[in-house]
Amino acid sequence: MSESRTPQWEHLPQSVSVDRREVSEEESRRANGPEWDRYADEYQATHGEFLGDIGFVWGPEGLTEQEAGALGELRGRRVLEVGSGAGQCSRWVRQQGGTGIGIDLSMRQLQHARRIDLETGTPVPSVLGTATQLPFRDASFDVVFSSFGALQFVADLDAAVEETARVLRPGGRFAFSITHPTRWSFPDDPGPEGLTASQSYWDRTPYVETDPQTGIVTYVEHHRTLGDWVRLLAATGFRLVDLLEPEWPEGHERVWGGWSRTRGSLTPGTALFVTDLAP
Ligand SMILES: C[S@@+](CC[C@H](N)C(=O)[O-])C[C@H]1O[C@@H](n2cnc3c(N)ncnc32)[C@H](O)[C@@H]1O
Repeated sequence: MSESRTPQWEHLPQSVSVDRREVSEEESRRANGPEWDRYADEYQATHGEFLGDIGFVWGPEGLTEQEAGALGELRGRRVLEVGSGAGQCSRWVRQQGGTGIGIDLSMRQLQHARRIDLETGTPVPSVLGTATQLPFRDASFDVVFSSFGALQFVADLDAAVEETARVLRPGGRFAFSITHPTRWSFPDDPGPEGLTASQSYWDRTPYVETDPQTGIVTYVEHHRTLGDWVRLLAATGFRLVDLLEPEWPEGHERVWGGWSRTRGSLTPGTALFVTDLAP
């Protein structure tokens, strides 16, 4: 396995070859669905308590939607969560009076959603699908959001953002958190090793893991610069309302993948974009 690891969502450190190379949307999807199926049990066991069964955090810094207010008023709103995982955020949306529903690529993540639905008595209707082909009618949501779900895992980001614009009503809100793009310059290490820039911020070549036995791609992550995001959102009809870069809070000692106090007190780990579709 190569030593060169770009920032990626923490997941199985199995025996894989790590590479930076171009991958198609189909290959990204074929890799990431099964990968999240394999990782889901560990993800929920490790992070479920931090996420809260009915809880909405935007990332490892622990910024909550209650604090951020990125989605605006939720009461009576039709709300779609893309990359909804076990539905914790959408359950919180429902508790606020919104009609939260989810879509995720991983059946195992959705099985966890169903388990928590039954445990909490707050079900989130969820469908299996991909951010790049949303199975919903035009203008059927007031709000679309994604908390570290889907957007950094798709190759065809234009399609994902266009699909979001299609299913949102005019003037609707789209907010999403991703790994802060500047993190792609650094090794994915929560300790001091993760503080020295070693890769070009402008290198958009995807991060790819491959099973050395079969040659099958097992995990993919995609990088866009801040400018890429702003340009794409503007070209698709979105107006940037805010860009939140949560600071590492006092007393927060949790390490999550490459996120830690060591790095978080010096560089941003999460970017939270808040946008509105043109009226
Ligand atoms: C880091 S998890 C975040 C899940 C949830 N938002 C949370 O905070 O726990 C990323 C999720 O995105 C999903 N995902 C990855 N690629 C996707 C795609 N193309 N379309 C929809 N969901 C996708 C994964 O299955 C996984 O559940």
